[in-house]
Amino acid sequence: MKFLTGAGLFCLLSNVVVIAGQELLKNGGFESLSDWQCWAPLQCFLTSDAYSGSHAVVASSRAESWQGPTQYITVNPGQRYNVSAYMKLLSDHIGENMEAYVDMEDQAGHHVYQTVATHGSAKTSDGWVFIQGSFTAPHTAVKTVRVAFDCGPSAHVLFAVDEASVTPLTGITNVTDAYLNNVIDRERKGDMHFNVKTASGVHMNDIKIHVLQKKKSFPFGSSFNAHKYNEGAANGKYRDFVNKHFNWVVPENALQWYDIEWTRGHMNYKLALDAIHGVKSHGIKVRGHNLVWSVEKYVQGWIKQLSPTELKTVVKHHIEETMNMTRGLLEHWDVNNEMLHGSWYQDRAGDPNYNLELFRIAHHADPSVKLFLNDYNVVAGSGFTNDYLAQAKKYKAANVGLGGMGVQCHFAEEIMPDASLVKERLDLLSTAGVPIWVTELDVVAVDENKRADLYEAALRALYGHPAVQGILFWGFWDQTHWRGPHAALAKGNNMELTAAGRRVLDLFENQWMTDETHVLSAVGNQFNVRGFHGDYEIHVLYQGRELPHLMQNITLYKGSDVTVSINVQNVV
Ligand SMILES: *[C@@H]1O[C@H](CO)[C@@H](O)[C@H](O)[C@H]1NC(C)=O
Ligand SMILES: *[C@@H]1O[C@H](CO)[C@@H](O)[C@H](O)[C@H]1NC(C)=O
Ligand SMILES: *[C@@H]1O[C@H](CO)[C@@H](O)[C@H](O)[C@H]1NC(C)=O
Ligand SMILES: *[C@@H]1O[C@H](CO)[C@@H](O)[C@H](O)[C@H]1NC(C)=O
Repeated sequence: MKFLTGAGLFCLLSNVVVIAGQELLKNGGFESLSDWQCWAPLQCFLTSDAYSGSHAVVASSRAESWQGPTQYITVNPGQRYNVSAYMKLLSDHIGENMEAYVDMEDQAGHHVYQTVATHGSAKTSDGWVFIQGSFTAPHTAVKTVRVAFDCGPSAHVLFAVDEASVTPLTGITNVTDAYLNNVIDRERKGDMHFNVKTASGVHMNDIKIHVLQKKKSFPFGSSFNAHKYNEGAANGKYRDFVNKHFNWVVPENALQWYDIEWTRGHMNYKLALDAIHGVKSHGIKVRGHNLVWSVEKYVQGWIKQLSPTELKTVVKHHIEETMNMTRGLLEHWDVNNEMLHGSWYQDRAGDPNYNLELFRIAHHADPSVKLFLNDYNVVAGSGFTNDYLAQAKKYKAANVGLGGMGVQCHFAEEIMPDASLVKERLDLLSTAGVPIWVTELDVVAVDENKRADLYEAALRALYGHPAVQGILFWGFWDQTHWRGPHAALAKGNNMELTAAGRRVLDLFENQWMTDETHVLSAVGNQFNVRGFHGDYEIHVLYQGRELPHLMQNITLYKGSDVTVSINVQNVV
């Protein structure tokens, strides 16, 4: 006998009530092939090599990496789900990722694919591995949602799946805006204690104190295109936008090895260096991205021709030369980009610890630069969160100069970032005890107002987490954005702000900056102002006019306790 309630499925079995999380998948144990779809050319068959029970499914004859057994499920709008399975690689091929993904189709037939859980760099010797992750269903009604299991980047590899499960995710903190505002107040602000003396005869209601934040100390910026910056794209407005709105930037491509040395021995550092000198003259700090990139498709042809011994010599020289060329100009370097998504250098070098060696080389070349891991599907999606934590712990323990974890944060298209899941994942990653930076934030929504909502939700969730020490977008202009115009903050040749751009700048330049004026008669001679960390000007006004000799500059930083003494004499 079964009955369904809003909260779950209760099964009454031989006088024992079993309360189970409501399972959305049918036949997740693959004791038969029923309820699963295997679209041609994919073929599924049962194997007795099961993780549990008598059978598991094997996916074969695959022509695309995304092909694998799939099942449609019914979700509730806005509900969070826990996806898990056991998977096993059956044919060896270096660097395969076994994963679960969801395909959400909206009413207009537009599909959004999200990787939910991954086991990276799988080997047949791993045997059965547990994959687990989470996703949030869209808040608006969907047409279809399906869960699928696949393996890539190669298409033809064989893999098995067993014990697949999708259940509503329970027991996580429901993060509200009020919660986030509390964290923001606690983490991003400090107190200024004002102590104002007035000469006798000066009326308190004639004195105003203007507390004006001129600069924020929280790193906020974007990747930028060095060509566009140097050439003065959009009549110089591209450059002006970068210089005006960002206090940190990262060249999108210009520091990557394939831009610096596409052809062996033909070096091009000028493009990047000109742009870096340009932004630095505006007081902007710069990240370096990246010394090498683990994913095979980003490795230049000539490097692929090298023998393992030559490769090691050439890579060491490249790292040392690039760090020499940029010495004193960069705060961070992404050393080996996306090591969860590729292992080309390590595999070709034939040394399982080569990636650690690259950090050692970089740290030795310039110990003053903070060296970063940088990866995706760790916070905006959940595919690799557990693997990233393990990687950070490994690099920290190896003492190779790890200075931070870059979480890219490319959020799924058209789907509201879920602050609760962002918090869960950041909480987990922060247990590594390594500074976390959001290095490549973007969202995509066709409608500019919706895009504004998505960016705001993402920014509140990230700025509202104590472990996050900086936030950089991965582009801002519709004409160069890697995710296309529907991710842009500014558009066209006039760099006109989109609704999303207005919202983002309102947060960073208005809501998350402090600008307060207090009349002494209202607050008294001693009062506190709680303001965002950064540089301030304190202006004193008497009967509406500035007393310039009383102007002072102060800096409010995390942990600082600032007292501002003002002595108002001789006002006439
Ligand atoms: C997700 O489901 C799996 C399988 O039932 C379970 O082991 C795991 O604890 C769940 N995770 C969360 C966060 O609920
Ligand atoms: C979490 O918050 C949402 C609104 O943001 C609300 O609809 C939902 O009921 C809350 N869930 C719990 C478990 O409190
Ligand atoms: C980098 O700079 C150091 C110190 O000046 C120098 O010894 C080394 O030869 C340089 N290496 C390369 C590859 O430029
Ligand atoms: C405050 O800082 C501004 C800008 O850096 C500077 O021009 C001014 O002289 C400073 N004022 C005082 C009183 O230090």
